[in-house]
Amino acid sequence: MSTAKKDYKRITVKSLVEMKSQNQKISMLTAYDYTMAKIVDSAGVDVILVGDSASNVMAGHETTLPITLDQMIYHASSVVRAVDRALVVVDLPFGSYQSDPKEALRSAIRIMKESGGHAVKLEGGKEVKESIKKILNAGIPVMGHLGLTPQSIYKFGTYTVRAKEEEEAIKLREEAKFLEKIGCFAIVLEKVPAKLAQEVAKSISIPVIGIGAGNGVDGQVLVIHDLLGMTHEFNPRFLRRYMNLYEEMGGAISQYVKDVKSVDFPNENEQY
Ligand code: KIV
Repeated sequence: MSTAKKDYKRITVKSLVEMKSQNQKISMLTAYDYTMAKIVDSAGVDVILVGDSASNVMAGHETTLPITLDQMIYHASSVVRAVDRALVVVDLPFGSYQSDPKEALRSAIRIMKESGGHAVKLEGGKEVKESIKKILNAGIPVMGHLGLTPQSIYKFGTYTVRAKEEEEAIKLREEAKFLEKIGCFAIVLEKVPAKLAQEVAKSISIPVIGIGAGNGVDGQVLVIHDLLGMTHEFNPRFLRRYMNLYEEMGGAISQYVKDVKSVDFPNENEQY
């Protein structure tokens, strides 16, 4: 088999599994609106996650819990309209899949039908297995999410690293294998020790995409606002900021204010 890295014109769930088998790392970023998704897709990101982190960065909520299914569909449909290449994965929001598998399926179908997304993501392992199976049986690809699962923040009480103790690490290893076995096409692993994350990634054939999980996994995901430095008060150790857009945008906007106040803007060339 050729070892040359394949250049994918359109990313599918199959391409991601193939990328893992070829040791090709997977890049994933969030986006929640058309303009940002267009930039992210054109820059070559493999997977765009319409994350329920929209609840934090778009709506200003403290947690991901308040965002609704209708709001997720709105964000996802804006993203889908922008994307030519990336696989678009949409988070099932809190309350839309935990209570009963039929409701989970209805929520996933609404996302697929009304937004045009390509797959859904949900948090948890065995406790949501019936929901996952029901969604998979309808032909909808499911991405799992283990480790720190922000929809359970009130159970954890804190956003600190998960599975540092052996008991939780054992459970995590089992849950990852379980998600692979029931048919998930990939798993997000959030905020777990790098060594454990690498072990998990090596133990299964589906891709493990990490956030705060070190570089031994199959790909990385970040929230776009964090990567661009728009969320300047959020400083976890795992985050690499590629820009300081908070300051750059603030500088541009205060210059605009000055120009308006001093009647420098608009000038003769900027009017009719
Ligand atoms: O909602 C989100 O942005 C996520 C990522 C942090 C993985 O789930």
